[in-house]
Amino acid sequence: MHPESHGHVSRRSLLQVGTGLLLSVALPPLAAQATRPGEQFDAAPTRVRLAGGDRPETDVWAYNGTVPGPLARLRQGEPVRLIVDNRLDQDTTVHWHGIRLPNAMDGVPGLTQPPIRPGESFVYEFTPPDAGTFWYHPHANSLEQLGRGLSGAVIVAEREAIPVDRDLIWFLTDWRLTEEGEIASGFGNRMEAAMSGRVGNTVTLNGRVSEAETVQAGERARLRLVNGSLARIMALRFEGHRPVIVAIDGQPCDPHEPDGGLILLGPAMRVDILLDMQGEPGRRYGVIDDFYEGLSYRVTQLSYDERPSLRAHPLDAPLDLPRNPLPEPDIATAERHDLTLQGGMMSSMGSMQGGGMMHGMMGMGGGPAWAINGISMMGDGHAGMEPAVAFQRGRSVMLVMRNETTWWHPMHLHGHSMRVLSRNGKAVPHRQWQDTVLMAPKDVVEVAFVADNPGDWMLHCHVMDHQMTGMMTVLRVN
Ligand code: C2O
Ligand code: CU
Repeated sequence: MHPESHGHVSRRSLLQVGTGLLLSVALPPLAAQATRPGEQFDAAPTRVRLAGGDRPETDVWAYNGTVPGPLARLRQGEPVRLIVDNRLDQDTTVHWHGIRLPNAMDGVPGLTQPPIRPGESFVYEFTPPDAGTFWYHPHANSLEQLGRGLSGAVIVAEREAIPVDRDLIWFLTDWRLTEEGEIASGFGNRMEAAMSGRVGNTVTLNGRVSEAETVQAGERARLRLVNGSLARIMALRFEGHRPVIVAIDGQPCDPHEPDGGLILLGPAMRVDILLDMQGEPGRRYGVIDDFYEGLSYRVTQLSYDERPSLRAHPLDAPLDLPRNPLPEPDIATAERHDLTLQGGMMSSMGSMQGGGMMHGMMGMGGGPAWAINGISMMGDGHAGMEPAVAFQRGRSVMLVMRNETTWWHPMHLHGHSMRVLSRNGKAVPHRQWQDTVLMAPKDVVEVAFVADNPGDWMLHCHVMDHQMTGMMTVLRVN
């Protein structure tokens, strides 16, 4: 997509090869297990055992019969063909979240492609320009389709990876299950939609409730965290460990330890960490989600096997991932646009008069609960979505996103990665790029990017209920 910047990447990659050779760390080459061209993804109902053991099975909708769906292993700069077969009884599409691909492959029904009808299929063909951790999910009836299990991870392998002992993925999903183990009904509950969205009661790791994940003392793991939840925000804490964040939303950043040791992971976000297993053989260490006050729970435990430590000292190897070929926005000449997020319970949005709760009752009658710049685009992708702003291709753009609501919103832009410049007036360190920016209540965040990918691109909150009830807009790149 940006051939002119590839030279830059190769130079860095060469440096990485150099270091990789010096350290003879055994690494199964990811590329060797790349997804075959013509990989098939069949969306269909099935039953899976989410809680494991003697817990009942759950009716889900899934790709190829598993939750999460098959891991798509792609290679940076190499074309792929991914075939999606719709065996559901409703329309679907697949959105390859975070991958900077051509607009016609973006998977938004009505906007970038016709919906895939039941019994039909669609071939997605693109060449991923960036290495990193991404994921895929439907963009039709998203709240229910994602909530019933349709999602999976994408790993785009670097041409030259950094040395680690193991490359792991934790695909985290939040479910709302009944006593009988079935997915609770009530998708699209209006009260919930105007508040935090559909937060569930069961979190799975790679498709099952996890008691423990086995590790070996001394090893260094690259751990790719994906939050595939509808609405649950996570703040992960690794007891007894010091994770180093090396990439956010697939894009490498300057390696750093997270503030307060908490890895903040909004819905749709990915964070790659390097984790040196400095614990003791035979011991267990909790991985705790501390996000909701008073509702901490254990996601899993790092369970050290009895093997002696792999090495006396932590691996002395570079932590910097090779940067992706992202065009740097020119802040001085960037055009500035404001995106103000409005609505939700306890808000003063809308024309409704009257005090207190009445203000918060927006959306209860089937109307919108949220808006961006006063306009509520409802539902999912559909035909006739008019862009809120249009950019000339190649322009640097700065978006000032203001969260006027009292709720959290992970704001996702399709087709581009955004350089995160500042939050509430303070510069954001570590050269971070994101495709999904988590906004706390009242946050003001400045992001910038080069509008280099032509087409109509969705920008929306990734709390699915929020998107469906109005927190969505479209940006056009001409
Ligand atoms: Cu992951 Cu428009 O979505
Ligand atoms: Cu939101």
